[in-house]
Formats: sequence, structure tokens, C-alpha cells
Amino acid sequence: MKLLIRKGRVVDPVGGIGGVMDILVEDGRVAVIGSELTAPSARVIDARGLTVCAGLVDMHVHLREPGFEYKETIETGCLAAARGGFTSIAPMPNTRPATDCPERIALVRQKAAQACGVHVWPIGAVTWGQKGQALTDAAALKKAGAVALSDDGMPVQNANLLRDALIRCRRQELTILSHCEDADLVKNYAVNEGRVSRALGLPGRPAIAEELQVMRDAMLAEETGAAVHICHISTARSVEIVRQFKKKGVPITCETCPQYFALTEDELLSRGTLARVNPPLRTRLDVEGILAGLKDGAIDVIATDHAPHSAEEKARPLPEAPSGMVGLETALAVTLTSLYHTGVMDLSDILRKMTINPAFILRIPKGRLSLGGGADFTIFDPDEEWTVDPEQFASKGRNTPFAGRTLKGRVKYTIVDGKIIYQEGK
Ligand code: DOR
Ligand code: ZN
Ligand code: ZN
Repeated sequence: MKLLIRKGRVVDPVGGIGGVMDILVEDGRVAVIGSELTAPSARVIDARGLTVCAGLVDMHVHLREPGFEYKETIETGCLAAARGGFTSIAPMPNTRPATDCPERIALVRQKAAQACGVHVWPIGAVTWGQKGQALTDAAALKKAGAVALSDDGMPVQNANLLRDALIRCRRQELTILSHCEDADLVKNYAVNEGRVSRALGLPGRPAIAEELQVMRDAMLAEETGAAVHICHISTARSVEIVRQFKKKGVPITCETCPQYFALTEDELLSRGTLARVNPPLRTRLDVEGILAGLKDGAIDVIATDHAPHSAEEKARPLPEAPSGMVGLETALAVTLTSLYHTGVMDLSDILRKMTINPAFILRIPKGRLSLGGGADFTIFDPDEEWTVDPEQFASKGRNTPFAGRTLKGRVKYTIVDGKIIYQEGK
């Protein structure tokens, strides 16, 4: 089985391969990168005018299986990933039951093996049932295939427990992915505390709820020497805390999501529950802080936090609707529209945060182009415009505030181990 990708513009943030190139794939591996390659028996992709990069890696998704299959299944989540250009995804453990033991990790891997081919890297829970009371067996989870631990969705409130978890995870060489929001400060509130929460007459989730826990977790990383990765960072001051701890050499990394640099809390006023997400959308000043962090490297990763919910759930009043938005099928386009077409960042720096950086944090052998390496590629047209129509999504979730928006950047092919698992229009 041979595949020849011809005359695409290759962008490679790691090895610095650049320019228009041909890539020949044999038996699922990258065989040759060069120009004017020929391979008579190969299937040929004409990539003229398109960008070719290592397959995108999303280190933060929710696939909902087992327990919430009406929102998403591993199968539909993988299809959505493929449509969005992602070749590797890491699902969070907040399923029912939670992914807190080796058997549950095995179940995720087994279902993923029957899906469309996207590599699925399960994340194990930090505490049993994500109840924040007793630690899971990090060594056993790792042995079963967990690539990191997290209680995302039900953040660990007890600092002592988290500290013990970090000490264990350091030994296991597992990173803890931390959803930072102090439970006492956010309750079940729906929106950022500030102008919009006041306009809506609702109690809000203050920025300090996130910042306190970012500070706590950064200090715990410093004290224990264990790797902490802050999920979906959303405030300017959170970014600044991470920046300062990185300067000291503390093993801390962080991600943000397209919604935190493309949208502000104002979206709640026009989109209602579709814009409800935890942590909440913030202010223009916070967006500026996120952009600065993306540019100077304080923020390592762009992840989606793909969080499908049903239309019925999102039709509830704002205080009762679940938080979260789907992201797999819009992330690349929103990112290119907001960061590349505005001149904020160049393509290579953007792709670094969607390929090698998340792969490095999860310690998985993905996210880079290398001769002899696995042939995972994303091929996209950075300039093509399209309008988001959730009815076209492969995901069961249609809950996106980007519905109806015109974006620039379209995925054309997604390739895993040399196999085309998604082709636009097919
Ligand atoms: O908005 C969110 N949705 N934040 C989370 O932490 C969890 C997620 C979900 O699972 O729906
Ligand atoms: Zn979260
Ligand atoms: Zn999440």
C-alpha cells in the first residue's frame, strides 16, 4: 500500500522541513520526503495549493462513552476528529462509570479500535469515580494505557489529595491535567462574574476561582517536581502565573481552546446556553492575555475541550443547561481565522501547539513528521472559506456558538498510518 502526497506545502515546526514537497508513504510509514517523486503503484493525492502537516493532536476531548452515548460515542467522536483533521485524541475520564481502573481504559481502547482509525489515547481519573476522595492506582492505569491522569469535569478540590497524586504521578512519569476552578467559588454558576453576569442577573464564576487553583497547582508542581498541565486556561492572570513559574523552571504547561481567544463573555448574550462552558468565556482583556501567552510560549497547546451535549439539554434555561461546546470540527478553522489570518502567529507556531507540544506533554510518539515514522497527516486549505453548519457535523453534538459563522481554513484530508480516513466531500 503506497500513498503519494504531491506538491503540498509542507509545514514542519520540529524538523524545519518547509516548502512545496512530495511525501511518499509505504506500509503506513513515511518512506521519502522530496520533490518530483514517482511511485507507479501509489494512490496519489494532488495537494497543490494545500498545506500538509503532521496529524493534529487534541489532548482534551470528551467522548461520553460509556454512559452518555446519547451525547457522543467513541465512534462518532472519532469521526468528528477525523473531519476536523485530528489523527490523535485524548478522551477525558468523566464518563459513567468514570475511567478509573484498567478495565475501563481497556474498554475505551477496544471501542476505539473499532472506530474510523483515529488514535485514541485514554486519560485515567485521578480519584475513584472522580469523587475527589481516594486516589486511583496510577501505576495500573499507566500499564493499561492511560497517557495522563485528570479529574476534568470534577476538579480535585482537596489540595492534600492532589499533592499525593502528584507525588505518585512523578514516579510513574504521568502528567496530571488540571481543570482549575475552585468549587467553593464557582458553585454551579453559568457565566463569568462581571458585566454580563450582572446584565443577566445571575451569580457568576469569578476569574479568581481559576487563578487561585492555577497558583495552587503551580506551587504544588514546584514543590513536588511533578508535571502539571493546566487545562483550558481562560484568564490573563492565569497565563501570567504560568509564565512566571515556567521562568523558574517549574514543570508546568498549559493549554487554551479556540473559544477562549475567539470569543468573549458577550457571546452569552447572543448565544445563550451554546456559549456556556467551564471555565466561562471571559473579557476582552483576558482574550488579549491569552493571545500574548500563545505568542510568547506561556501557552503550549491549543486543545478543543470538545464537550458534546444534546439539543434538549442545551434548550434548558442558562442556569440549568450543562456546560461545554463541541470543538473538533471547527477548531482548526477558528484557530486559523483568529490567529493566522489576523497575523497574530505564523502557521508553524500554530501547528506546533496542535501537534508536537500536546504529543510531548502526553509522552506519545506522535505530532511530528519523521522518516520511517507513522504516516499521520492533516491536509488543509488555509484560505478556503466556509460557514459552520452543525447539521453537517459527524459529532452527535451540535452545541457550538460558532454556528453560522464564516471561517477561513478547511480540512481536505485526514490520514492515519497512511490510510485516508477522511476526505472532504466523500
Ligand atoms: O464545559 C465543560 N464541559 N467543562 C468541563 O470541565 C467538562 C465539560 C463536559 O464534560 O461537558
Ligand atoms: Zn475542564
Ligand atoms: Zn474538558
